[in-house]
Amino acid sequence: MSEWDNSRVHLINHPLVQHKLTTLRKKQTTTMEFRLLASEIGLLLAYEATRDLPLKSVEIDTPLEPMVAQELYGKKTCIISILRAGNGLLDGVLQLLPAAKVGYVGMERDEITHQPKLYYCKLPKAMDERNTLVVDPMLATGFSAIESIHKVKALGGKDIRFICLLAAPEGLTALQKAHPDVEIYTGAIDRELDENAYIRPGLGDAGDRLYGTL
Ligand code: URA
Repeated sequence: MSEWDNSRVHLINHPLVQHKLTTLRKKQTTTMEFRLLASEIGLLLAYEATRDLPLKSVEIDTPLEPMVAQELYGKKTCIISILRAGNGLLDGVLQLLPAAKVGYVGMERDEITHQPKLYYCKLPKAMDERNTLVVDPMLATGFSAIESIHKVKALGGKDIRFICLLAAPEGLTALQKAHPDVEIYTGAIDRELDENAYIRPGLGDAGDRLYGTL
């Protein structure tokens, strides 16, 4: 039995997501292909993560007649990219939400303790009035996601959704323990974390693969 609340974990089994994810995982996939695929999957996951955004009715005129139609309600969504690998998903998410506000949280992983160290944080204004998508390709230990979401909540952020390509069981459990209210959207739940906190079978280091720094 899983140790997390499945009602808040959305495993996106869409065939396009699964197909693209498989290509992404392959070791022979080039940096250029990896970057394109990460962005495309980011868009598809964000599509799922925004399914229930609130709408309001507005009166508009089509060229033929007036009508009541639906548009997004409230302040613009905020996307928080956890640097640096989060930027690999950001472009795709922004294609879907081009007017979104964007914040960045810079977390560096200490290679010995695997604990995150915050080195940068710039978040948009009025976080308490926005819904927020936090993006990071890999939910591994969960430390970076947990700390980033603490920052969002410290500014009043409430409706928070976390988007990743792959999640480890350990990361899901840790993130839900720290932030049980957060909805998690992932393309896959892999087997485990290894002793170096890499997701297995995984796809390697997402940042290195995105930026060719292997
Ligand atoms: N970060 C990565 O880039 N890959 C992993 O497998 C775990 C964390």
